[in-house]
Amino acid sequence: MNVLITGGAGFIGSHIVRLFVKRYSNYTIFNLDNLTYAGNLENLKDIEHCANYRFIKGDITDECFVNHLFFEHKFEHIIHLAAESHVDKSIQNPLTFVKTNVIGTVVLLNAFKSLWKGNFESKRFYHISTDEVYGTLGPTGLFSETTAYSPNSPYSASKASSDHFVRAYGETYKIPYIITNCSNNYGPNQFPEKLIPLFIHNIIHNKPLPVYGDGNYTRDWLYVVDHATAIDTVFHNGVSGETYNVGGNNEWKNIDLVRLLCSQMDIKLFRDKGSSERLITYTKDRPGHDLRYAINTSKITKELHWKPSVNFEKGLGITIDWYLKNSSWLNNVTSGTYQSYYKHQYHK
Ligand code: NAD
Ligand code: DAU
Repeated sequence: MNVLITGGAGFIGSHIVRLFVKRYSNYTIFNLDNLTYAGNLENLKDIEHCANYRFIKGDITDECFVNHLFFEHKFEHIIHLAAESHVDKSIQNPLTFVKTNVIGTVVLLNAFKSLWKGNFESKRFYHISTDEVYGTLGPTGLFSETTAYSPNSPYSASKASSDHFVRAYGETYKIPYIITNCSNNYGPNQFPEKLIPLFIHNIIHNKPLPVYGDGNYTRDWLYVVDHATAIDTVFHNGVSGETYNVGGNNEWKNIDLVRLLCSQMDIKLFRDKGSSERLITYTKDRPGHDLRYAINTSKITKELHWKPSVNFEKGLGITIDWYLKNSSWLNNVTSGTYQSYYKHQYHK
């Protein structure tokens, strides 16, 4: 069975590629990734020589290339993660997000449709999406699979649009699809533009911790390996045409999460209690900042028997240890263009 995973050199993709390559020796796993700033083959060093793994460098928006690839390898299953994924970057440059997230998804759908020409028996197009498509919650309530889409950032609008195309191809061309919408992931290999790895990096270097607004924004956090096991479960047991929400049942206000991170970092770095917290600096808010995300996970739990397994304090500890142990990974990705991004975003 030929399985195509797009975006497999990125944060979540690399954990899924590893899990599938190790767990399913009877599948050939193709990882298609353009290696943007967020894609890094170092993330997959431990499995790159496995017999059932192949890396292909390429752009999902390149129609000719993608069509050719599908006809060459006859992918029966697609797990589609390739995307521009950072909200702040989408505010700086929305068009890049439309190109990769919307057009890239439609190019893949078209290639899948042309390859199988309606013969979709035992085939599947699995689209990985985000809870941000639902917009924002007030202080109470949860997102469920039937919550209306109401995206507020160019990133979430582009993901919502890609979800709509996947669904529309299911209705119009009968493509067997599944969509999962997941909450915030954290763990090893996440690019240090996102809250947790950015703040770990800044604490190591004694740099300010830029908390947006009053810090009272709330996110639900899921350990990335738990997301990978959810994707494995849905890939094998999910029902075509269905959507499943995935989350950690683990809501944190940003400021409380940052304080927990600071206290763990003080211990790990043998610094005086309170030294990391002194780096907290409240900064200009993100435009259109969603107040709160929280997920009702009862569908995936009841129907597919998946639930998160890693407790947040433990997961955060493993994550910090990984970044401290892999300082060369962190140094490599924060050299070069990262510096100009940082200057532009934080005026530092
Ligand atoms: P990431 O930014 O770490 O990785 C994205 C990967 O896609 C990179 O390897 C990049 O090189 C690749 N890519 C980008 N443009 C490409 C193109 N045109 N052609 C081929 N490859 C390209 O992202 P992530 O955080 O791992 O997120 C992966 C997916 O999961 C995304 O679709 C995102 O919307 C979704 N998601 C992320 C989270 C989260 O918390 N990070 C939560 C829910 C859903
Ligand atoms: O909910 C799922 C989404 O989670 C994914 O779809 C996105 O790909 C992923 O990036 C993430 O989006 P967020 O915008 O929630 O993640 P981020 O790490 O950028 O920010 C988390 C919270 O922390 C958010 O409320 C903004 C705040 N923040 C972030 C940064 C980078 C700060 O206060 N300061 C910062 O410097």
